[in-house]
Amino acid sequence: MSADKSTSWSYAENLPAEDEVLLRARERSFELGVTPVSQGVGAVLTVLAAASKAQTVVEVGAGAGVSGVCLLRGLGRQAVLTTIDLDVEHLKAARQAYLESGSPANRIRTISGRAADVLPRLTDNAYDLVFIDADKANFPKYVEQGIRLLKSKGTLVVNDALDKDRVSNPAARDATTTVLRQVGKSIREDDRLVSAMLPTGDGLLVAVKK
Ligand SMILES: C[S@@+](CC[C@H](N)C(=O)[O-])C[C@H]1O[C@@H](n2cnc3c(N)ncnc32)[C@H](O)[C@@H]1O
Repeated sequence: MSADKSTSWSYAENLPAEDEVLLRARERSFELGVTPVSQGVGAVLTVLAAASKAQTVVEVGAGAGVSGVCLLRGLGRQAVLTTIDLDVEHLKAARQAYLESGSPANRIRTISGRAADVLPRLTDNAYDLVFIDADKANFPKYVEQGIRLLKSKGTLVVNDALDKDRVSNPAARDATTTVLRQVGKSIREDDRLVSAMLPTGDGLLVAVKK
């Protein structure tokens, strides 16, 4: 990559100006040892939520609420965000961020538990957007569940899809990179989806269910 390309990437990542609500949520993420979505990814989530006019969203991996606040900011007044996390301290911090963002509590459903147990309990073809940002080893399961949950024209978003630039390197064969490489391939080759890989953050894989 040229030095200019790298500079442009950093420029684009840092363009979104974040307010106090997001900065505090980032601070709490840091204190809890959670890695929140990047500024660029947060901005893309807001745009995707708005562009898709999503009414029903599932997030796998609430963390301390950075991505949830970004999603909520793109959603309409009646939309509902369902967010899942197995760590109750993370969910508590996420609820604080949602509260500070001014989103009504009845628009947010927080579910504590392992995503692999929770997702199968959610209704088929009922969601407009599914965002995956939890334990990477289980991404293949979450993607399959996500496709099941999405309505036709619903949007699937997978965070960290380039795994810190390792997915593109064939010599990188650690377990996480291999899973993410396979997730990318399976989404690209899935006839039920159209997809695109955005280089935002650590890679944001976006797909729409036909
Ligand atoms: C990268 S952080 C999510 C960050 C969040 N999306 C944000 O931008 O603020 C991953 C989260 O997934 C949660 N997690 C890890 N394994 C999980 C599992 N099996 N089921 C549900 N949540 C899980 C962790 O507790 C952590 O809060």
